[in-house]
Amino acid sequence: MGDFNEYESGTYMRNKKNNNVSKVPDTDTYVQRLQLSDFLRKPVIRSAIRALQLPLGSRGLDAGCGIGSHTLLLAEAVGPAGHVTGLDLSPEFLAHAREVVKKSSLSEQVSFQKGDVNELPFDENTFDWVWSVDCVGYPTGEFLPLLKELARVVKPGGSAAILAWSSQQLLPGYPLLEARLNATCSAIISFVKGKRPELHFLCALGWFREAGLEEPTAHTFVGDIHAPLSDDLRSALISLFEMLWGEPQPEVSQEDWAEYQRLCLPESPDFILNRPDYYAFFTYSMFRGKVAK
Ligand SMILES: C[S@@+](CC[C@H](N)C(=O)[O-])C[C@H]1O[C@@H](n2cnc3c(N)ncnc32)[C@H](O)[C@@H]1O
Repeated sequence: MGDFNEYESGTYMRNKKNNNVSKVPDTDTYVQRLQLSDFLRKPVIRSAIRALQLPLGSRGLDAGCGIGSHTLLLAEAVGPAGHVTGLDLSPEFLAHAREVVKKSSLSEQVSFQKGDVNELPFDENTFDWVWSVDCVGYPTGEFLPLLKELARVVKPGGSAAILAWSSQQLLPGYPLLEARLNATCSAIISFVKGKRPELHFLCALGWFREAGLEEPTAHTFVGDIHAPLSDDLRSALISLFEMLWGEPQPEVSQEDWAEYQRLCLPESPDFILNRPDYYAFFTYSMFRGKVAK
C-alpha cells in the first residue's frame, strides 16, 4: 500500500501526552508533491465529501490539513454559513494554505491554526464534525488516543471521519513486480517487520468501536486513471512512482529495480505512461463514526 505519508525526510516529534510520534515532512519537495497529487486525489476526495453529506452551515475541523487543499473543498460543501478550521503541525504548510485560501472566494469560511492532533487546541464540543486525510490513522503509534482526542472536540451527535490512501494498481501487466515493489513501501514494510496487524489502517472500524464512536462505517472510493493522460496527470503519476518506489530499497532485487527503471522512468523507451492503453486506479478508504449524544 502506498500513501502520501511516505516522506524521505522530515522532522519527528513525540507528543508528551500519549507518546505518539508525528512526522512533519520537509517543506519544498513535499508541498510540490501534495500539489501534484491533488490532480489525482481531488475527484476522489470530492466523492468522499459528498458521501459525508455535511450539513450546510456546519462547523468542522480538517485535522492535519497540510497545504489546505481539502479544507477548501470542505468549506465549499458546508456553504457560506459554515466554517472549516484547518489544523497542522507545520507552520510552513499553514502559511502556504493561507496564501491559497486568500486567492479563493472562501477566505471568510476558512481559518488555519497550528496544533497537534494528539492534543487539539480546542475545547470540548467545538465542532459539528472532524475529518482527517492521510494524517490520523497513519502516524506511527496508537490510534485510540488520537480518535478519542478527535471525538472530544466534536459535539454530541456530530461525526469523526478519517481517510487514507489504501491501495493502488499502477503497473498494468506487471502485478507481481508491483506487489514486490509495494511490499517495500513504508506503509507495508512496517508490517513485514512486525507491526501489530490491528494497527493497519483497514482495521479502523475496531478503533472507532473502542473509542466509543457509534455506528462506525467504512467506505472505499476509487480513482480511475486512463490514457490519454493530461500533462498534469502525467506529472502526478511520475511523482507518485518516484515517491512510492523511487528510493532503492535493500529488499528490492536488482532485476526488479531494473524493471522499475524500465517501466517507471520517463526517459525509458518503455515508459509505461506512454502506452496508449494505460489504465490504473487507486483507492481512498474512509472510516466514520458518530459521537454519542
Ligand atoms: C500526508 S499529509 C496530508 C495533508 C492533507 N490532509 C492532504 O491530504 O493533503 C500529512 C499532514 O499531517 C501533518 N501532521 C503530521 N503529524 C501531525 C500532528 N501530530 N498534528 C497535526 N498535523 C500533523 C503533516 O504536517 C502533514 O501536513
